[in-house]
Amino acid sequence: MGSILEVRDLRVAYRSRSGDTFRALDGISFHLGPGEILGVLGESGSGKSTLAASLLRLFRQDTVVASGAVLFEGMDLLQAKPNELQRIRGKRISLIFQEPSVALHPTMRVGSQVRQVLHAHGVDGRALNQRTREVFETLFREETERIARSYPHELSGGQRQRILIAQAIACGPSVLVADEPTASLDPTTQMEILGVFRSLREKLGLALVFITHNPALLAPFADRILVLYAGRVVEWGPAATVLASPKHPYTRALRESMPPRLEETSDFHKKKLNAIPGDSLPSSLPPQGCPFEPRCPERMDVCKSREPILVTLSAGHTVYCFRYESE
Ligand SMILES: Nc1ncnc2c1ncn2[C@@H]1O[C@H](COP(=O)(O)OP(=O)(O)OP(=O)(O)O)[C@@H](O)[C@H]1O
Ligand SMILES: [Mg+2]
Repeated sequence: MGSILEVRDLRVAYRSRSGDTFRALDGISFHLGPGEILGVLGESGSGKSTLAASLLRLFRQDTVVASGAVLFEGMDLLQAKPNELQRIRGKRISLIFQEPSVALHPTMRVGSQVRQVLHAHGVDGRALNQRTREVFETLFREETERIARSYPHELSGGQRQRILIAQAIACGPSVLVADEPTASLDPTTQMEILGVFRSLREKLGLALVFITHNPALLAPFADRILVLYAGRVVEWGPAATVLASPKHPYTRALRESMPPRLEETSDFHKKKLNAIPGDSLPSSLPPQGCPFEPRCPERMDVCKSREPILVTLSAGHTVYCFRYESE
């Protein structure tokens, strides 16, 4: 299966006014097949939103230094011209942002907000009405007219999330990047929204990059999982393998702190921090060596002295850890 999206050695650093730089992503590589669901898992500060923004090159060029490649259907978005980017962003690959509360205009009917996205991409006249209706029918089983006429505050959290998904899929993209799209919802609604994403993959063949800090969400859902720690991919492989027998000590710690049932995930963040001692992002990373070393229960002498390399354990399963280097 060919890749629809391929990321090669992506490095992104934020530049402060004083000229200091902070490396948020440090050599990320992975690929996504058509219709595939990739779960990106990592604690706060691991670089998840930076990755999401990078996949659409949605960052301010004056504050970011980026290198590597983000190939969408073979075109490197990091090198693309503004008009090429405009044809792709929101149309072929779209993003659902992490903050749902600021994403919708409070005094505009949600139907108009979906129409606006289509209009911005050149859909007009009768096609605009028809496409808006189709998009609502894809996301809502009933009451589509009433919902389209509502203002955001008249809808539930789950319905508002569906509107954001409607905007993202309106132009028929082949890749959707969703940055913690269920974080503000209760567990039952979270499950419902996961079902929406699954059915979009089935109905539209959409590939999905689903970003979360919660491994319990990915268990019933993702095909593959990429685990981020301090801007590195520490483990990448088939979801069943990564969740059932995680190899990186960080993935293992995340897995062990995972509640057995999704319904128990509401205070997941607190549990997770108890389970992995140390700061989620050490303020001073070791000048050399593995970034997880200061918190790693399985650290060895070598971990302080140089960085691990990505080791392939089996077809499509890689891990960034010295424990596997000789295998
Ligand atoms: N505009 C910015 N300027 C400077 N540093 C930034 C900027 N945006 C993010 N960072 C830093 O880059 C790192 C990665 O941030 P990012 O938002 O990608 O993490 P995240 O995994 O999405 O976290 P969360 O789970 O809290 O959303 C963090 O240390 C963050 O402080
Ligand atoms: Mg984020």
